[in-house]
Amino acid sequence: MANEGGAGAPGARRGLGQLFLRKSVEQMHAEHAGGELKRTLGPLNLILLGIGCIIGTGIFVLTGRAAAEFAGPGIMISFVITGTLCAFVALCYAELASAIPVSGSAYSYSYASMGEIVAWMMGLLLVLEYGLAASTVAVGWSGYLISLLHDVGIVLPPELTAAPGVSVTAPDGSVHVGLVNLPALIAILAVTLLLTVGIEESTAANNVVVFIKLAVVIAFIAIGAFYVKPELWSPLVPPQQPPPPEGSDMSLGAQIWRALGDVMMAKESSAYGIGGLIAGAATIFFAYIGFEAVSTAGAEAKNPGKDMPIGIIGSLLICTILYIATCAVLVGIVPYTELNDPAPIAKAVNQIGLPWFAVLVKIGAIAGLSSVMLVLLYGQTRIFYTMARDGLIPPVFAKVHPKFKTPWINTLTVGAIAAGFAGFMSLDALANLTNVGSLSAFAIICLTVLYLRFARPDMERPFRMPFGVSILVAVLGAVMCLFLLMSLMAHVPTRNFFLVYVAGGTALYFVYGMWNSRLARGLPVVSGES
Ligand code: ALA
Repeated sequence: MANEGGAGAPGARRGLGQLFLRKSVEQMHAEHAGGELKRTLGPLNLILLGIGCIIGTGIFVLTGRAAAEFAGPGIMISFVITGTLCAFVALCYAELASAIPVSGSAYSYSYASMGEIVAWMMGLLLVLEYGLAASTVAVGWSGYLISLLHDVGIVLPPELTAAPGVSVTAPDGSVHVGLVNLPALIAILAVTLLLTVGIEESTAANNVVVFIKLAVVIAFIAIGAFYVKPELWSPLVPPQQPPPPEGSDMSLGAQIWRALGDVMMAKESSAYGIGGLIAGAATIFFAYIGFEAVSTAGAEAKNPGKDMPIGIIGSLLICTILYIATCAVLVGIVPYTELNDPAPIAKAVNQIGLPWFAVLVKIGAIAGLSSVMLVLLYGQTRIFYTMARDGLIPPVFAKVHPKFKTPWINTLTVGAIAAGFAGFMSLDALANLTNVGSLSAFAIICLTVLYLRFARPDMERPFRMPFGVSILVAVLGAVMCLFLLMSLMAHVPTRNFFLVYVAGGTALYFVYGMWNSRLARGLPVVSGES
């Protein structure tokens, strides 16, 4: 990797040049050398790792809301749109992961290519993609737990099952307003404790959970298919609500044009119609997050050049097929207007009169979502760990517990914050912010591929798309990410939170990261020992 920025240069580097300092790939390898990570993961393990992180709250919960509020039965098309976007991004990840197979993923790729300030921005965005995503999954987990407890006759006080301001309908039909989502908060704290004492998910345990999740989803598709009423798929794209004032006789082309214009103007006009398909695609983007987690295992893959692309693209492909089939069955069983439910898949199963299967679905979802929370929180702590070793955030985040051998202060801090978000923010707000952060991170990944193709055309790329294809894929990926991003930004609180977050985070770089960067000072990474 080019090192124009002067990686590892002795002495301090300050000024604008520091913003674009790069770490060489050799340096990254050297930092990880002597580490205890063994190259044990083959293509199947990597695919299962990806599926383990992908299938979660997105398909088990958000699909219902996206169909009810935005896309109607057209949610199937929304899944195709987002699946296509993720395929472009996955190809970009595959190229980077095979060329730079170190742990640290997107943050490390940015540090090795575009420089320190972009790596910092990536770190900020990954907090949303991993940390906040864990909180989002916890809220989905809570919905399935509450539903399962209800089945066995345990009813929690409704006020303790939802974030402040969120309405909850109790089993007796009375409507309450939430104070705190206690199960979600406790779930994150429990996962945090496990991570602190060092119970990482072993490959074997991950494989068992993935098998349970896959079994539940495939059984839902296979059994549910017999109960589908095709008339519920029609109209596939319900008319826009409220109907456009200039008449409902717009041609399809005019409708698409208008919806694109609305998205670009960040206008909120997203119930049904073409605009609804796009808003639905942006919402269920959450369901796809996780395929890139395979890239975090770069340092543990047996043959990264070949196996990383198989793991990333294979897991995405399998999940896309399952997702589209699940949606087709879901909206074919329950009218889409009734799908805004905390446990929509279980609702569909109840509707076809198989309560025993609904219980199995809930148990499967609870087990499956637990592992997603674990992987996401783990990812977040390791990103902070890497950033702390680089000096960009305080070294306390790299401190390893003498007995548990985990970055314990880091883990407890991340866990406490994620628990707070899980307990006090609504699922919609959490999912929107996670999506905005992840889409921005994905757009940067596409731009990184583009940049390296021109800046480092000769770089060794074990997985290499043909030149023209890579440019097309990266440009389309970035444009689609920006497009869905605009759709989410139409929601004013999401837009405001995101802009304040990015502005505040960037200011922190100039206040702290810039002055403490180990690379800029020509120092080796911080030792993690306590
Ligand atoms: N894709 C993961 C989920 O849906 C994050 O829970």
